[in-house]
Amino acid sequence: MPLVSGKILLEIANEHNFAIGAFNFNNMEFLKAILEAAEEEEAPVFIQTTESALKYAGIEYLAGMVHAVKDKYSIPFALHLDHGKNLESILLAIRYGYTSVMIDYSDKPFGENLKITKEVVSICAPLGIAVEAELGKLEGIEDGVISREKVLINPEEAKEFVDKTGVDALAPAIGTAHGAFKFKGKPMLDFERLKKVKELTGIALVLHGASGVYSEYVEDINKYGGEITGATGVPEEDVKKAVDLGINKVNTDTDLRLAFIATLRKLLAEEKKNVDPRKLFKPAMDEVKKVVKRRIKLYKSQGKAHFIKVRTN
Ligand code: G3H
Ligand code: 13P
Ligand code: ZN
Repeated sequence: MPLVSGKILLEIANEHNFAIGAFNFNNMEFLKAILEAAEEEEAPVFIQTTESALKYAGIEYLAGMVHAVKDKYSIPFALHLDHGKNLESILLAIRYGYTSVMIDYSDKPFGENLKITKEVVSICAPLGIAVEAELGKLEGIEDGVISREKVLINPEEAKEFVDKTGVDALAPAIGTAHGAFKFKGKPMLDFERLKKVKELTGIALVLHGASGVYSEYVEDINKYGGEITGATGVPEEDVKKAVDLGINKVNTDTDLRLAFIATLRKLLAEEKKNVDPRKLFKPAMDEVKKVVKRRIKLYKSQGKAHFIKVRTN
């Protein structure tokens, strides 16, 4: 199946109350693991690159691989630019056949965020490319009303933003954070706020910083020479609840990284004579694939590819 627009994935997920996994990749190993896992689970999926992924590998390599392999798979998937920070990145992604982009001005004043997002929508909408934006800051929250109001999304602002920009998806800050150290104390997500944003906007919502930071990988990393003591993630129950309350795209990067690195560390420690990287990367890739499948089931997108196939035929 060819690449599809992110619009159709977001629309269907919103209509049917489930979420589509959005997984980050920087190289062939992650891309292959993600697409194979999604294919085996018959799940639609977003594959996404950040600007730093493009800086690391080059867009010719990353987008080139996607275009070269897309017809090997029967599942519908979208190629997405994650956290695009300026118009140049958006235009570059469009040139390389991305079918979905995020313009992330969440660290700028509301008015500036609104203005650039509107401009990106005016460029992308006629091309059938989906646009995601973000409101609030991705930071873990503590139990204090003042700090919450400073970093989390304001539901009334969200309504105004969606009405005025015409975005396809909105990432609301509700207390998650990127990386392997998400919370100082116990995990705390503002579900009431999420519910309000969904009620007011009705739009497809995106959960960033959603990795579970699974203890088995953290333990292996620490056991085999790493130092990530105190790493914490979003409990799976919380992700499930967020999906039930209207999240339609869930971004996962850290969980894939942890699975890959844990496997590498273990194998490097155990197989001291190995000098063939493939003997490290293949098992690491298989572990990434396992995590992608686990996440797909968590988001209830397993077996949902047919909804999109029917709509696009
Ligand atoms: O924003 C999402 C990422 O997990 C950070 O990715 O290291 O490729 O910028 P990056
Ligand atoms: P994690 O760091 O929790 O995997 O979040 C990734 C993300 O939000 C990418 O945009
Ligand atoms: Zn993110």
